[in-house]
Amino acid sequence: MAKVLTRGPTYAEMRHPSRLPPEIRRRALEARKNELDPLNLFNITWRNREDRVRHVVLPGELTGVPANIVVLLGRDFPSGSHKVGPAYTTLMEGELAGEIRPGENTIIGPSTGNFGIGTAYIAKLMGYRCVVIMPEQMSAERYERIRRYGGELDLTPGSESDVILVLERTRDHYRKDPQNKVLGQFELLPNYRFHRFVTGDAALDAAKGVGDGRVAAFVAAPGSAGTLAAADEIKAKFPDCVGVAVEPKECSTLYDNGRGTHRIEGIGDKMVTLIHNVITTDYVALVHDDDCVRGLKVLEQGRPVLERQLRLAAGALDHLGGWFGISSVCNIIGAIKTAKLLRLGAGQNVVTVATDGFDRYPSVIADLERRSGPIGDSTLARWYDEIFRGATTGEMLEVRSGVQKERLYRQKREVWSRFGYSDAYLEKMKSQSFWDEEYQKIEHIDRDLALKRDLMG
Ligand SMILES: Cc1ncc(COP(=O)(O)O)c(C=O)c1O
Repeated sequence: MAKVLTRGPTYAEMRHPSRLPPEIRRRALEARKNELDPLNLFNITWRNREDRVRHVVLPGELTGVPANIVVLLGRDFPSGSHKVGPAYTTLMEGELAGEIRPGENTIIGPSTGNFGIGTAYIAKLMGYRCVVIMPEQMSAERYERIRRYGGELDLTPGSESDVILVLERTRDHYRKDPQNKVLGQFELLPNYRFHRFVTGDAALDAAKGVGDGRVAAFVAAPGSAGTLAAADEIKAKFPDCVGVAVEPKECSTLYDNGRGTHRIEGIGDKMVTLIHNVITTDYVALVHDDDCVRGLKVLEQGRPVLERQLRLAAGALDHLGGWFGISSVCNIIGAIKTAKLLRLGAGQNVVTVATDGFDRYPSVIADLERRSGPIGDSTLARWYDEIFRGATTGEMLEVRSGVQKERLYRQKREVWSRFGYSDAYLEKMKSQSFWDEEYQKIEHIDRDLALKRDLMG
């Protein structure tokens, strides 16, 4: 049997790395010391060395709501964010199908940053040349990482909300050459599969030991909307779970077709992505972009002030340091709004996600300091009150009705028919069975990969 070069994990092994052959698991954990060691592919998982899902339950004093806010922590994935997961599954599935071959193809990663970082990283580990196409105004730390992994950059005008220019550049320049293989996170279903199967399970597992052990709501701000697929998995177990998509108030596309520029890197891309299963999104919540930047400053550098204000012991919030980025704060604010809207009580859980950590935002905080002038203790205390305690149930739109779903489908069609998707395909996506069938492909993919790969090679 022909062995393919993919030496990475199956979906089942990403969900439960304890299923890996013990020797591979041991060597993969050892490889953490050298991030460019290809064995790190086996560290693409939410689970730590002890097989526990990395998460934190935010202190109730901090959130001001009785419900538990459980945050999955993505920073310790290889390359520094969970976006490496969909980058890997898209490339792995392409190799398995015989469509992508190392040495022959160039990998193209249309992105606003973390997916591009993940793509450059995976390409390096799996032996490909890689070009990342992304807007020119993202955080400096992002470009540095991509270059560190040997990725080439092709920058398009604008910032996060100009991602359609990235897609156009991909279509008009790169797709024409068949040697180029595009890992299209906004349109390809390995992204959906990764998050429904791997992230969805992690969310369920993290909630297991907390409060009533159930998930009352899952909250995530969509970029590609891959992460939101976790809601599909959670709803299969807890059908009453409420799925909430969070958007920047400045770019309220799902909320009311708004299309402005904003500061929350990674989300708010001015479109309904193709892989967004809008059936399982029940609400859209808006959050002001600068609240997320200021909120990050508070959580990262204002913890001693918060501890005094909340009458917590000195150091009681230390464990939160470093784990959050701007979109994580957006998700946390969205989770607080959701807990308030649904009037969740003690023991009920809202699960959300911190896609990346603080390491890629010092330049953004430096910019905040330039814009705001000196930020003293009283400013940090006021920001905390306004942003976290002051989060309201305003600007939350229920999108469960047929009318709202049709509006979202219309938006999806507007974008994706321009990129060659037929009405018949878009129509099929309106049925949950489309998504369930895509999900069920995992079993076959895993079997195929296990047969073809050569783990010890
Ligand atoms: C920092 C950050 N947060 C959130 C997201 C959104 O995640 P998803 O693309 O799964 O919707 C991204 C995506 O790139 C991101 O980079």
